[in-house]
Amino acid sequence: MKARLQVRQEKLDEAKRRVDWGKPVESLPFWTWKQVRSMSEEENRLLIVIDNVVHDCTRFKAQHPGGPRIIEFWNARDATQAFNGDVYNHTKAARNLLAHLRVARLKEIYEPECDIDEFKDVQKTS
Ligand code: HEM
Repeated sequence: MKARLQVRQEKLDEAKRRVDWGKPVESLPFWTWKQVRSMSEEENRLLIVIDNVVHDCTRFKAQHPGGPRIIEFWNARDATQAFNGDVYNHTKAARNLLAHLRVARLKEIYEPECDIDEFKDVQKTS
């Protein structure tokens, strides 16, 4: 019994090693908000902050099931609340996908202010 359990554990460990979890957050460089904004403007990249991690959504934009305009709106903004349920509560699969878009972590922690209200206003009028 013990030997069988051990074999199963080893198989599980092997399977875990093969799963791609995206880059570990600890290995990412630190960026400031100023850098996020300038990279977005100068390099034309769509950079969205969620949970203090910067995600490059440039290529993903066209594939977003919620549409490309949402991704554009949240460019160079903190979409933590919107992503985690304020606008739409994404599945684990979406979170997994998000992990693969990580490029940096934020140097300063930012409290999202009124972006959600502004987003809802934009949606109403479009
Ligand atoms: C930034 C990276 C994002 C990724 C990787 C992402 C990924 C996804 C995925 C995979 C889905 C399909 C449903 C699911 O698996 O949960 C989805 C749906 C959706 N997302 Fe996102 N999303 C992102 C950002 C956002 C943001 C910032 C918002 C809103 C402010 C948003 C709003 C929505 C909505 C409304 C849907 C539902 C579409 C529908 O079924 O009609 N997403 N997203």
